[in-house]
Amino acid sequence: MHTILLTRRLFPEAELLLERAFHRTRNHRLADGVITQLTDPVDARFMDRMPRLRVISQCAVGVDNIELDAARARGITVMNTPGVLTEAAADMTWALILAVARRVVEADRVCRAGAYKGWDLEYMLGREIAGGTLGIIGAGRIGTAVARRAEGFGMRVLYHGGSAPGAARKMTRASLPRLLQRSDVVSLHVPAAPATHHLIGARELALMKRTAILVNTSRGSTVDESALIDALRRRVIWGAGLDVFEREPAIPAALRRLGNVVLTPHVASATRQTRGAMALTAARNLVDFFRRRPDPGRVVTASLS
Ligand code: DGY
Repeated sequence: MHTILLTRRLFPEAELLLERAFHRTRNHRLADGVITQLTDPVDARFMDRMPRLRVISQCAVGVDNIELDAARARGITVMNTPGVLTEAAADMTWALILAVARRVVEADRVCRAGAYKGWDLEYMLGREIAGGTLGIIGAGRIGTAVARRAEGFGMRVLYHGGSAPGAARKMTRASLPRLLQRSDVVSLHVPAAPATHHLIGARELALMKRTAILVNTSRGSTVDESALIDALRRRVIWGAGLDVFEREPAIPAALRRLGNVVLTPHVASATRQTRGAMALTAARNLVDFFRRRPDPGRVVTASLS
């Protein structure tokens, strides 16, 4: 029987599955496998504390907390949980789109503060979403699921980057500048990587419509946060919905002060069903790895052995 370590607790069903297949340890030196979560810094130092380590099973899709080169160099396989959080993340993207467009958070605050003084024709006007254009940056699983929901709103969908064959029939490919210029809502669905760092900065924001909304449920590093704060302050764009931030868990005070942004704390996948499925998938990944049947779709970096 192999020995595994959990950096944090998982849901009972996932822990039960692991209990049946492995010995559990808290001693890093004894672990053959580990389940990690997004806030664990899994760097060379972490790996060097685990001389027997053969597999890192990340309980998330993103692996930006893991030093992949260090894992490769040590012959450690890295696995993740794609697929199971697609619908939850797409739902949350839409929750942010609608919350920003219809000023839901601001309206809630007015009611709670006892500041509602009665119906008025020009009071708290928002943006209409139906019939507009949605720009998806990164048409992978989640981007495509967001686009699918746009059908119900009668929206045209442009996309840039990513290849989602099925749904791509209903989307129109566009260059990034064209997508930014044409879209009423721009939604980011790309992983953190050197190529996506500050993909949206001052220049890109300036290309967007003054009435447009930017939503980011992917990774904070894809947006230049200072440039976005400036654009929101100067009303270069209408508003933004952000579930992710450049230096999580820090959220700049300047961003928190703005009224035209809705902020959520990296909870796009946070439903019991989806988080449970993520934990179970991470547990199954370890079992499959040690049975030498890892699902190739969940292997980020394979060991060379
Ligand atoms: C992921 O899996 O990378 C998500 O960001 C978790 O919510």
